[in-house]
Amino acid sequence: MADEKNPFPGENNTGHIWDDNIRELANPIPRWWMIGFWVSIAWFVGYGILYPFIPFANESSKGILGWTQVGEYQESIAEVEALRAQFETKIDAMTVAEVLADEGLSGYAAASARVLFGDNCAGCHGAGGAGGPGFPVLADDNWIYGGSIETIQQSITNGRRGMMIAHASMLNEAEINTLAQHVVDLSQGASSDAGAQLYRDKGCFGCHGADGKGLQILGSANLTDAVWRFNEADKLASAVYTIAHGVNDPRDSDTRAALMPAFNQRLNEIDIKKLAVYVHKLGGGQ
Ligand code: HEC
Ligand code: HEC
Repeated sequence: MADEKNPFPGENNTGHIWDDNIRELANPIPRWWMIGFWVSIAWFVGYGILYPFIPFANESSKGILGWTQVGEYQESIAEVEALRAQFETKIDAMTVAEVLADEGLSGYAAASARVLFGDNCAGCHGAGGAGGPGFPVLADDNWIYGGSIETIQQSITNGRRGMMIAHASMLNEAEINTLAQHVVDLSQGASSDAGAQLYRDKGCFGCHGADGKGLQILGSANLTDAVWRFNEADKLASAVYTIAHGVNDPRDSDTRAALMPAFNQRLNEIDIKKLAVYVHKLGGGQ
């Protein structure tokens, strides 16, 4: 251990010596280290003056630059909003058909309507308009009311409520079965005389048309295609049910429900135009 007398006089040691010759020297701290040390203190103080620094209960010291993270976030949001505003103003001033025809605008409209669709429509029509039990597919070119851009806009603005009267009290069971079979036949391109006769006699043509293709103005289903509005699993049973209980018939408590809510109170016109463009791009047409 350390001796009374330093055996290495003149050397810059602290007097701590082990095993006779291992010494602790009192060298100064290297200059580069000291520079780093002072610079970091200066940095610390400078940062504290310029930026928010000392946390208090509800806020923190402000910093003379006035910078905050929230502020920076809000600035970048404002930039995006300014960019959007140009598009939104244009869409506002144009008809929905003009928006659709404008490549840049319709691309913007469809892209920004994706979120709107997810929030307002996908619950019923499925993600991407894929449809669901009792809710029509929007991502195909089969339309109950019509797939022109204006008609789609109308469907969204004012809603839809297809109406077919319940026939349970007007037809007997055999007639209902014959008509249901006729409808299934029609969807497969076939037809029977008895079925066609009843179809005429019982007034089905009044809403579904003489050819069974449906009238878009009424939203009556096209009975000649392979698309089923209700329950595809058992087509015959489904047709029997629809014929017996109708659709949205207030007098029949078992009636099928088909309600497309109106969005004119919930969304503004610009958003409805954007959604119409989006839906049209999914599968618009006639
Ligand atoms: C509460 C469920 C529900 C919601 C929410 C809903 N729809 Fe519908 N939508 C329906 C039903 C049901 C029909 C079919 C109405 C009928 O058969 O008369 C329909 C029909 C439509 C049609 C007409 C389809 C055709 O073939 O002519 C369009 C277009 C449409 N919806 C778009 C939308 C859009 C866009 C939204 C979101 C803004 C939306 N719907 C939200 C239930 C809904
Ligand atoms: C008052 C008009 C009206 C009359 C009359 C009417 N229908 Fe309908 N029918 C409709 C409408 C509207 C729909 C579609 C409802 C919807 O999608 O919202 C429909 C739907 C149907 C469906 C369901 C189709 C599917 O894709 O699932 C069948 C089946 C059907 N009708 C058969 C008949 C038969 C058979 C008759 C004659 C006994 C008849 N309808 C009379 C208006 C009518």
